[in-house]
Amino acid sequence: MNNSPIGIFDSGVGGLSVFSELIKLLPDENYIYFGDTLNSPYGTKSKEQLIEFTKNIFDFFQSKEVKAVVMACNTTSALTYDVFKEEYGFKIYPIVQNVSAYIADEGYNRIGVFATNATINAHAYKNEIQKYNKNIQVFETACPEWVPIVEKSLMYELSSIGNIKLYIDKMMENNPEKIILGCTHYPYLMSILSKFAPKEMFINPAVYFSECICNDLDKSDLLNNKRKYEPKFYVSSNPEQFKTASKLFYNVEKAEEISLVKAEV
Ligand code: DGL
Repeated sequence: MNNSPIGIFDSGVGGLSVFSELIKLLPDENYIYFGDTLNSPYGTKSKEQLIEFTKNIFDFFQSKEVKAVVMACNTTSALTYDVFKEEYGFKIYPIVQNVSAYIADEGYNRIGVFATNATINAHAYKNEIQKYNKNIQVFETACPEWVPIVEKSLMYELSSIGNIKLYIDKMMENNPEKIILGCTHYPYLMSILSKFAPKEMFINPAVYFSECICNDLDKSDLLNNKRKYEPKFYVSSNPEQFKTASKLFYNVEKAEEISLVKAEV
């Protein structure tokens, strides 16, 4: 079991912001990354659609005999984790739930969240954080344009920069102490975000999330102890666009296009 792969997925390149942290902490694991580029963006999809996508991906990872799946996607962590958490024989790590526990403990009173429509409409971060401390104020904003900006590598276009500034200016009216980048695509925008607010204000959940995963695998005696593997990358469409967009966090040299067997949900 220890040398079985770790599956990690997102709607596209966003999850590489998590993968790049995880591989720093656990360089000897056997990783299989799946980017569901055919169905991206997830943030505008219904819960039913997200359940279907998640089931297809979990079934794919099951066929690869993984020991764990990292939900490096806030949107599916928020909307579909509860549906599948007991359904498979491997460990499942959802980003929102792991990160909220940590953030709630940091002593902040006013926290902003940027995330997808689906994550914000589900109040995923707000509910999770307030589970630990009801007094923390959470200001939620959906930024639906940001995932396509990242997937298509359009972050340095003037229109993208203007769009990002608008969201930051609005969020700053709430006077937050920290702003969670509650979609794994958003850390790709850090160089632009930090033009309009101090860089230290932004929380990239990938860092805490990777620590949680590492600690839990260690505690469960599931760390790989054998040999080094090359990570494998799969996407459901457009591998060339995926490779181009990946570069900021991990230079993917080869991504194989596959079509997942459709799940009956
Ligand atoms: N990057 C994912 C997330 O963290 C999904 C974004 C999307 O495809 O809309 O929510």
